[in-house]
Amino acid sequence: MERILVIGGARALGAAVARRAVKDGYDVVIGARDLAAADVLASEIGATAVRIDLQDETTIAAAAARLEDGVDHIVMTGSAPHDVRAVDLDHDKLVAAFTAKVIGPLLVAKRFAPVLRPTGSIVLFSGVVGWRPGPGSLVKGTTNGAVEFAARHLAADLAPVRVNAISPGVIDSGAWDRLGDGKAALLTKSAAGTLVGRHGETEDVVDAVMWLLHAGFISGETIHLEGGARNKIA
Ligand SMILES: NC(=O)c1ccc[n+]([C@@H]2O[C@H](COP(=O)([O-])OP(=O)(O)OC[C@H]3O[C@@H](n4cnc5c(N)ncnc54)[C@H](OP(=O)(O)O)[C@@H]3O)[C@@H](O)[C@H]2O)c1
Repeated sequence: MERILVIGGARALGAAVARRAVKDGYDVVIGARDLAAADVLASEIGATAVRIDLQDETTIAAAAARLEDGVDHIVMTGSAPHDVRAVDLDHDKLVAAFTAKVIGPLLVAKRFAPVLRPTGSIVLFSGVVGWRPGPGSLVKGTTNGAVEFAARHLAADLAPVRVNAISPGVIDSGAWDRLGDGKAALLTKSAAGTLVGRHGETEDVVDAVMWLLHAGFISGETIHLEGGARNKIA
């Protein structure tokens, strides 16, 4: 049985990946900074939980030590948005955003490289605003761009372990529920900005992650899962 560690796996897209992976027969470990939330989901779906805070390398090292008998795949969905314009940048929030998406995953690679099986893979998460700037998307866009290069360079560094990134468009993952009534407008606008005329669903992302885990001839790539949004004529 292959083991998959899903960091950010206690909710939204990470939780959906964890649920599917259990159904598909993986030994699933949910990594989250909120261990209680990870434990609740883990016992519901038949997984185990480990505390990992991407801001704290000691938690990453402790998780790697606990899983020292081997890990096949790691999926990392961490994100700490800081959606402001340049004049409103806050240093600590900027660092937190880069840590959740880039620095933390690089430290996961550092700590898990010794336990990752050579046939395994890592999946990182980028996002469409890396390629299509929007209001307040400076930090998210820059971190998403960095994720693409992290996937390329980690793939070279960790070979033969494959490393890839998924770059979603707007997905109704639960992350946008915080917009309240504004969520419907966002989904409608994002659908209009695609070639396929709809927003993304959680299952679109989960399908892509599960496929990528065993796409054995793909490494160092970013898969754009956005309904063709970058190719839409404005
Ligand atoms: N949903 C979309 O429309 C969309 C579009 C483009 C790109 N993406 C990218 O896809 C990924 C997943 O998206 P989502 O919709 O599931 O996002 P989300 O709802 O914002 O979830 C982000 C996850 O990151 C975790 N996280 C944040 N900081 C962390 C840290 N320091 N250590 C460990 N975990 C941390 C959160 O855990 P807590 O529960 O502890 O906060 C949560 O599980 C993100 O990278 C996001 O940027 C999403």
